[in-house]
Amino acid sequence: MTSSGYCGPPTTNSTLTFLTQPTDGAPAFIYVDVDPVTGERDRNYGSLQKEVVIENLRGQERLYTIHNAGFQLGYHPSAHKFFKNSAEIEQEYYPECAQLLRSVTGAKDVFIFDKTIRRRKVGTFESTPDERQPAAQVHVDQTYKAALARVHRHLPPAEVPSLLLRRFQIINLWRPIKHPAFDWPLAVCDYRSVKPQQDLFPLTIIYPDSEGQSMGVQYNPNQKWKYFYGLTPDEYILIKCFDTVQDGSVAVYTPHAGFEDPATPDGSPLRESIEVRALVFYD
Ligand code: OGA
Ligand code: FE
Repeated sequence: MTSSGYCGPPTTNSTLTFLTQPTDGAPAFIYVDVDPVTGERDRNYGSLQKEVVIENLRGQERLYTIHNAGFQLGYHPSAHKFFKNSAEIEQEYYPECAQLLRSVTGAKDVFIFDKTIRRRKVGTFESTPDERQPAAQVHVDQTYKAALARVHRHLPPAEVPSLLLRRFQIINLWRPIKHPAFDWPLAVCDYRSVKPQQDLFPLTIIYPDSEGQSMGVQYNPNQKWKYFYGLTPDEYILIKCFDTVQDGSVAVYTPHAGFEDPATPDGSPLRESIEVRALVFYD
């Protein structure tokens, strides 16, 4: 499964940025545009830096699945390797990912609706739409409301009612580009260690002309953080960000973040990665 000869340390330690819910019980929000007066993004919640232990799952890859933990590792080299031209990515890489997701999950219909490419630069956490940095803040990409909105937004209106009768999930497929992601790897939280009612809260993101919603994540010492040391471009991680099955039998909202790993070998190239987001429908 792994192509790195050295499989890394059993655990590593890093500081992750968690959020804290508004103390007055109000729904959390953030404005994406910077306030011209304060120079800040107006928001009504706080953040909290916490050092956590992150277990390296090399050697135990098969024990963790999108069903039980909310994430899983796979090996599948992609034919597309360039990742610099949006149209090419959509024409070449999206169909590969959709096919891969169908075969790995057994889902009938998979629709890729979004991608994010991250190429780390030293000395900045500012992301622009074309040049995103690793996401150092722990989060889940979707809430229930946001997941439903994705179906309405991306799929033909005539098909939406019947699609919404089926089980569906939102899964991200995360893959390093060019070289292994020793630098700023992805940490994922085992959903079995998350207390959704307590740890997760909806966060409304206010754009100039629209709104989105993601999930803020509060720190809880019971959370179990994991990663895969030296993930290669021939490997990928699936992150389950939503599932309509919410009866406790499967993982639903999987918290994740990029992190600075003290076990990164000196001289490792800066992380480059792509994640695509998929609506995944079952029969
Ligand atoms: C994601 C994500 C963070 C990162 O794949 O959804 O949040 O640093 N990634 O790659
Ligand atoms: Fe994310």
